[in-house]
Amino acid sequence: MKILLLGADGQVGFELQRTLAPLGEIAPCTRKGILPGNAPCMQVDLALPNSVLAAIETSAPDWIVNAAAWTAVDRAEDDEQAARRANTDALALIGEAAVRRGARVLHFSTDYVFAGDGQRPYTEDDATGPLSAYGRSKLAGEHALRSSGAAHLIVRTAWVYAARGHNFLRSMLRLAGERDQLAVVDDQHGCPTPARLIAEVCAQMIARHANTPEDHRAALEGLFHLVSRGQTSWHGFASSIFERAHRAGLIARVPEVAPITSAAYPTRAPRPAWSVLDTTRVRGVYDIHLPHWQHGLDAVIGELAAVRSGVRG
Ligand SMILES: NC(=O)c1ccc[n+]([C@@H]2O[C@H](COP(=O)([O-])OP(=O)(O)OC[C@H]3O[C@@H](n4cnc5c(N)ncnc54)[C@H](OP(=O)(O)O)[C@@H]3O)[C@@H](O)[C@H]2O)c1
Repeated sequence: MKILLLGADGQVGFELQRTLAPLGEIAPCTRKGILPGNAPCMQVDLALPNSVLAAIETSAPDWIVNAAAWTAVDRAEDDEQAARRANTDALALIGEAAVRRGARVLHFSTDYVFAGDGQRPYTEDDATGPLSAYGRSKLAGEHALRSSGAAHLIVRTAWVYAARGHNFLRSMLRLAGERDQLAVVDDQHGCPTPARLIAEVCAQMIARHANTPEDHRAALEGLFHLVSRGQTSWHGFASSIFERAHRAGLIARVPEVAPITSAAYPTRAPRPAWSVLDTTRVRGVYDIHLPHWQHGLDAVIGELAAVRSGVRG
């Protein structure tokens, strides 16, 4: 199996390089044409159609896995067109090229497609209503891929973090080294989800397709919510990060964490207050178990502690 992996240096893309490797030949691509570790790779900019098409032609993939996206949520408010080029227009292009080649597409989307006024975990059938330019561009990307007619998996996830990259956990660890007191939003709820968990489940999903007869594969396709089990607020997540990071020796002291409202921490793009996703579908169709978010946090803190002490994770 040949897999074209777009966005191989993002949080999820980086983990996918490892989890997809046993499935076949991976052609990783980044916007800069360089992988983490400085090895060269194909250069693909989602905003440049020719680079996307050239990578698909050159690698002749069975699967196109798109982990690249415009993820600068606040900046998208000021340049919605640029966000749409990467998050929407590129998906139409990828979908059409996949149809021509007979390739399948695995693509990621987000809890930001929802308005966040839910009272129970959002299912794949719930009405969308993005509050932000980023959310609109991602929702339109889902539609573009679906409309292309390509065989696809769209995996909506949320609150993604990892031991590397730009994420809430790394920001909190940095702030803990700088401050004794922090204020963290307590009225937004979601499921912190390690990039590694997403990458592991997505590899299982692709492997399952490969082991399923062609005429049974349609039941495995479509839209899936994929997040850790359980839920918390950003305040709850921050408190758990500090407690575990202190125990693991990653921070010298646990800062005081005051709960605040979203109104007290305004951002350029509004965030959904309720981001909890229902994962019944992915667990049922693919017969997988999703660990609790605290279990995932233990693993990432353990990984950081191992790196700190010079042990390979
Ligand atoms: N992070 C979250 O909390 C979260 C939540 C829900 C859903 N998601 C979705 O999950 C997927 C993976 O997210 P992530 O957290 O791994 O994102 P990430 O760490 O921000 O990585 C995004 C990747 O996309 C690349 N990229 C950005 N613009 C590009 C362009 N025009 N052409 C090619 N590559 C481009 C980035 O490359 P550069 O380094 O060159 O910019 C980076 O490698 C995305 O679809 C995202 O929308 C993420």
